[in-house]
Amino acid sequence: MESSSRIRLQTLAPSLDQNTLNALADMYDGKALLGTMSENPITLDKGTRISPEQGAMLRQLMTDNSVARSLEVGFAYGFSTVWMLDALRKHSDAVHIAIDPFEKSRWKGIGLKQVDKISFKGDFRWVEDFSIHALSDLIRQSEKFDFIYIDGNHRFDDVIVDFYLCDKLAHPKALVILDDLWMPSIRSASNFIINNRNYEVEAQPISTCLYCGRLKTMSAIGNISKAS
Ligand SMILES: C[S@@+](CC[C@H](N)C(=O)[O-])C[C@H]1O[C@@H](n2cnc3c(N)ncnc32)[C@H](O)[C@@H]1O
Repeated sequence: MESSSRIRLQTLAPSLDQNTLNALADMYDGKALLGTMSENPITLDKGTRISPEQGAMLRQLMTDNSVARSLEVGFAYGFSTVWMLDALRKHSDAVHIAIDPFEKSRWKGIGLKQVDKISFKGDFRWVEDFSIHALSDLIRQSEKFDFIYIDGNHRFDDVIVDFYLCDKLAHPKALVILDDLWMPSIRSASNFIINNRNYEVEAQPISTCLYCGRLKTMSAIGNISKAS
C-alpha cells in the first residue's frame, strides 16, 4: 500500500523523479534513517525540515526560473537539498552547494546519505564550515548562483550576515529565499532587506514560511519606487 506521504508528495509534485520520490517518502514517513556517520538508523527530529508544501514550492520556483546553480545554508537531514536537487536534474551543468558545519557531527551525515540515494548526476558539494567562512570563500572564488536558500542560524544578526554575503554571490535576477518568516528575527531581517536593499518580493503562496526576494535588474531600478 502506498504511504500517505508518498501520495501527498505525488499530488504536490507529480513530475518528481522516482528516486527523489522514494527518498522523500522515506524521509517524511518519519522512518529512522541511516547517515554516513551512523551504523544504526536514527529517528529524525521532525522540527528540522521544510514541509512538503515548502519543498514543492522551492522546486517549482527553481523550475519556473530555469535555475541551474543553487546554494543553500543549512543542510541537516537534507530535506530542502533533495527537493532542490530534483529541480536541477534537467540541467547538464547543474551545481548545488550546501553549507553546514554540523552535517557529520550533529546530523550524522543523514543528509549526505539521502543525496547518495537519489542518483543526482550534477555537481553537488557539501561545505563543512560556518556560513560566514564558506560564503566568503565562494565570494573569493567569484562563484555566482541563480537561487540561494538561507535556512541556517536563525538569529537576526546571523541571517543578516548570511544575506549580506549571499547577495554578493547572487546573479542579476537571482532569487534569495529566507525560510521561517514566522520567526520575529527573520521578519526583522526581511523588513530590513525590503526597506534598505535593492530587492523586490515575489508573489508566493506560503507567505508565512518564506521570503522570496529577487534582485532588481538595473533597468528596473528607475521604475520601482523604493520604500524609504
Ligand atoms: C533548520 S536546519 C536546516 C534544515 C534544512 N534546510 C531542511 O529543510 O532540511 C538549520 C541548519 O543550519 C545549520 N547551521 C546552524 N548554524 C549555521 C551556520 N552558522 N552556518 C551554516 N549552517 C548552520 C544547522 O546545523 C542546521 O543543520
